[in-house]
Amino acid sequence: MTTESGETAWLSTVAGTSWTPPEIDFTKPQTARMYDYYLGGKDHYAPDRETAERVVGVWPGVGKFARANRHFMHLAVERLADLGVDQFLDVGTGIPTSPNVHEIAQAVRPAARILYTDHDPVVLAHARALMNSTAAGRIDYIQGDLRRPETILGHPCMTGSDPALDLARPVAVNLVAIMHFITPEDDPGRVLGALMDALPAGSHLILSHITAEFAPAEVEAAARLYHRQGLPAHARDERELAGLVDALGLELLPPGILPVNRWSPGTSQEPPAPLYTDAEASCLGLIARKP
Ligand SMILES: C[S@@+](CC[C@H](N)C(=O)[O-])C[C@H]1O[C@@H](n2cnc3c(N)ncnc32)[C@H](O)[C@@H]1O
Repeated sequence: MTTESGETAWLSTVAGTSWTPPEIDFTKPQTARMYDYYLGGKDHYAPDRETAERVVGVWPGVGKFARANRHFMHLAVERLADLGVDQFLDVGTGIPTSPNVHEIAQAVRPAARILYTDHDPVVLAHARALMNSTAAGRIDYIQGDLRRPETILGHPCMTGSDPALDLARPVAVNLVAIMHFITPEDDPGRVLGALMDALPAGSHLILSHITAEFAPAEVEAAARLYHRQGLPAHARDERELAGLVDALGLELLPPGILPVNRWSPGTSQEPPAPLYTDAEASCLGLIARKP
């Protein structure tokens, strides 16, 4: 949301919670900046590039993972917008990369509202690039931690008199390439449950997730590199993702849980996804609906 002075309305403090956002540390690699490197972006520093290069060394397909994942996000957001969804909660937004969620959603539904959130203060520093909403729509950015869903749902921009999203109406939660940073100790079922329980029937979940099913040696070596840098990384397989969706009582939309490189455009005018192999992309995608 943009104020009269042109400043974004929500800053990095999370009033009403005990959570303190991490400070920007340019001496250590961060997942958002490494992902930007994989995508060919410019917003990364030497420690990000060095670690990302080591990841490329063990998992040469990682750039293809990033591109196939963005393509899946594009298709999934467009598909839900086509189905009438006009509110999106995008958790783990990352450094802006066009087309961003709002550009896709508002192209279909100009009045769409998007609430972006990420825990990395570097993403906050770039959030102004996301603030180009249609006049009819609305975009907010807040800093929050998926492991503490209350930092998102309990944020003043959601609890104030003019909330960013109307929780009486369906919302799509985008968890695109973020859940693999939620470890078993973080309890992914709890995290997902807290978000989806707050939403009404007809809400959706868009999820993409790194898997070691197709290239175990490469993906596990990459996960070890992340761990060594203090970055959580936890691949999950189709059975584990199906279990999370089932436990929430969500219904999978066709085609179910499928590698992101195999999702096809449906009604989209986008060209088909590049011909990445399952092993190169090593990422599963799904869309589920809350009945
Ligand atoms: C791989 S990027 C994905 C960006 C975007 N969703 C996409 O798929 O293109 C993962 C993002 O999740 C963010 N992230 C990781 N753990 C998080 C957490 N616990 N809470 C909020 N954001 C988190 C990172 O800072 C990073 O920006």
